[in-house]
Amino acid sequence: MHISRRDSLVLLAGMGVSACGGAGGATQATPTPTASVPPTPTPTPVATPPAAAPAEPVGLNTLATARGLRVGSCFAWGAPGADRGSFANPSYAALLKRDCGILVGENEMKWQAIRPSATQFDFTRFDAMMDWATANNLPVRGHNLLWHQPKWMPAWEENHDFGSSPSREAERLLVEHVNTVCRRYGARIPSYDVVNEAVTPADGTLYQTALSRALGGPEATLDLAFHTARAAAPGAQLVYNDYMSWEPGNANHRAGVLRLLEGFKRRGVPVDALGVQSHLVTQGMDARTGIAAIEGEWRRFLDAVTAMGYKLVITELDVRDNNLPADIAPRDTAVADFTRGYLDVMFAYPALRDVLLWGMSDRYSWIEGFEPRKDGAKRRPCPYDADFAPKPMRAAISAAITAAPVRS
Ligand code: XIL
Repeated sequence: MHISRRDSLVLLAGMGVSACGGAGGATQATPTPTASVPPTPTPTPVATPPAAAPAEPVGLNTLATARGLRVGSCFAWGAPGADRGSFANPSYAALLKRDCGILVGENEMKWQAIRPSATQFDFTRFDAMMDWATANNLPVRGHNLLWHQPKWMPAWEENHDFGSSPSREAERLLVEHVNTVCRRYGARIPSYDVVNEAVTPADGTLYQTALSRALGGPEATLDLAFHTARAAAPGAQLVYNDYMSWEPGNANHRAGVLRLLEGFKRRGVPVDALGVQSHLVTQGMDARTGIAAIEGEWRRFLDAVTAMGYKLVITELDVRDNNLPADIAPRDTAVADFTRGYLDVMFAYPALRDVLLWGMSDRYSWIEGFEPRKDGAKRRPCPYDADFAPKPMRAAISAAITAAPVRS
């Protein structure tokens, strides 16, 4: 199921349908004539950005800090006036500043965004995002150093001529990439998704890319990425990030991730945490029965991960309101209940401290483009609605944080 959704995402991304800001840095589109500019559409300026939401009494991250937790969100690049999930959009920036203690670039640090060719880097957009975050005292997670699937690597990499010593050339490309990014941002990036989505959901095996074929296999490639990141960013948390989730149909994906994590331990690879993306899918109107049916297996998975000594990070939380009516009130309530149930389970693990949303406002969520509802009703995956008003999901997150065991 995930594979076909992902495939349709590629199509949608190629059509310019994007996400938390529509920055769409991860599209497969033809590069613009200026090779140094990532292939993204020019933003459409809007005359009057919608008014910011009325402030809630306490920001989510303020609540989180009191429990030893931290809340964050993705954000995107955007020119001033752009109607995007961007720091340049005052309404969106207000949400980030109110509720977040950490940010993550939605697309702008991916190879497709910063690596227009084997010999070039372009940090224009990501630098602007980093500068805004730093000016607002917000650290940024690095997402990501290697999205290890052919369809998410730049086309030039998949067609690269690795020459007569392919493994040496592949190693050179990867090491250069990781070193360049990590050294550029130093301590401003305290945590990296070093490797993203390397496990095939259907059978749990590892993807191959042109890079890994040249380098001698996926394990060697992923290990090298982590070893290089540890050396180049010695103070950073290094994360393996994936979307194996708790819904039915993910057993092979979870098993593959466990095998990968076991392998990292066996080989002494410096991986600190599992990034649990948490693109959740509701299981019906009654969140409690839905959760009761899936919680046990999920806990066994998390138990196995944490027993190996890995920390947990919720890296990309949002909710697809499947099997729910189009009616907004009951739909929002069911989404909120499901979110609350999920966070209650996750907060029971002391290994978890950071919870990042994949977007604060429904207005910019990637979900609408990724998997629209069959009945045509607009998706509502985020804590704030399309007009930046808080939804029950926000209240659920705040309640779950307040009820969470305190981390020291
Ligand atoms: C998504 C972005 O939200 C989209 O804008 C883009 O078109 C594709 O990528 N898992 C990840 C994220 O690790 O990088 C993905 O982000 C969502 C799924």
